[in-house]
Amino acid sequence: MRTSTFLTAAAYSWLVSAGPRASETLQRRAQCASTLSTANTVATQLQTWYDANTGNYNDGELWTDSNAVEDLHNLMLAASTTTWASVDDTSRIGRAAENPSTDWGSIVAGSWDDSQWIILALWKVADYRAAHGQDITPFMNAASQLYNIVAGQWDDTCGGGVWWSSAHTYKNAVTNELFLLTSASGYLRTGNQTFLTNAQKVWAWLEGSGMRNSQGLWNDGLDFNTCQNNGQTTWTYNQGVIASGLGALYTATGNTTLLDQAEVTLDATIAHLTVNNILKESCDDASSPNCDHNQQIFKGIWMKHVQYYLDNANDASRTAKYAPFLGSQSSAAFHFGKDAANDVGSVWYAPDQGGSIFSPEATTSGLACFVSAAKVRHVRILPV
Ligand SMILES: *[C@@H]1O[C@H](CO)[C@@H](O)[C@H](O)[C@H]1NC(C)=O
Ligand SMILES: *[C@@H]1O[C@H](CO)[C@@H](O)[C@H](O)[C@H]1NC(C)=O
Repeated sequence: MRTSTFLTAAAYSWLVSAGPRASETLQRRAQCASTLSTANTVATQLQTWYDANTGNYNDGELWTDSNAVEDLHNLMLAASTTTWASVDDTSRIGRAAENPSTDWGSIVAGSWDDSQWIILALWKVADYRAAHGQDITPFMNAASQLYNIVAGQWDDTCGGGVWWSSAHTYKNAVTNELFLLTSASGYLRTGNQTFLTNAQKVWAWLEGSGMRNSQGLWNDGLDFNTCQNNGQTTWTYNQGVIASGLGALYTATGNTTLLDQAEVTLDATIAHLTVNNILKESCDDASSPNCDHNQQIFKGIWMKHVQYYLDNANDASRTAKYAPFLGSQSSAAFHFGKDAANDVGSVWYAPDQGGSIFSPEATTSGLACFVSAAKVRHVRILPV
């Protein structure tokens, strides 16, 4: 958190004299500090997977590595620290951004969802660098180049949408949810109308696409032949990225129906993708887990994007609605997921003995969980 964790004597006596609500505030502030401290130890462990020579995480992937870079910067911004700033220069995406002759097309290799995870990471690095008075131009320019590549992948097959990849075999939820987010956020960052036009266009398409099922959850994508919902897995991350995109579009337009639409899906996530109120990916299994490296990061992405959603909704009652759930995930990731070395396993809903998979993706997911839970608690206590 940006503000001091420790209260002055005057602030403390004001809080105590202000009664029960204030002591609750004090308790929340302490929880927030301890969750950020946990995030810090997990980030330290995450970096043991990192190879500064290659700029990659051992056993990682470009898109999950990009999320790790984003999460480290979210943590540094939240905790006012500088510990991992060197990844700006050493990470694969940071080096590429700082080299003006980088061919982003060859780096993303026709993957239009990966391109957008990189955009989000580059923007977060830019936020961090701006907060420290450093030049953000290379990072913003790289994000623009990537955005323009992705925006060019929209066509009329199935009535619209960006293709998942250059193979042109799939139009899916995550690529287009990300396009909603990068478009709406791009507008908020630059004021450039092209971004807002794209955001409205992709939300209109998503809304009519049929990819959200009767439970309120987004399935994976569209059947290639029929353009109908293919009924494939309702991964947790798909239920979070739609919310952050809608939250950003709400900030751009003031249309509160977009927030209600986001919450249809957030509420459905809590109702249908949990066991004992803790997120459970369909591939999570305490006795025989079989999530692949991609799937091991999804729950943390849900957490991070709910926090982004709440930041944009900027509404104390909406934050209060989800803060306890985010806190419960943080508690489960701490007590069930985290091991003695401070890696966070892939399974949060049950004790991990024999269960969790440990990987840079799973630990990145845990890091996002702790940072998001801490930030949402912080947001909630601000309006005193
Ligand atoms: C607005 O953004 C689009 C998409 O990135 C870009 O092509 C265009 O040049 C931008 N316009 C201005 C005036 O900056
Ligand atoms: C607000 O968003 C909803 C949901 O997409 C849409 O149906 C409605 O037309 C929008 N309202 C305005 C004024 O654009």
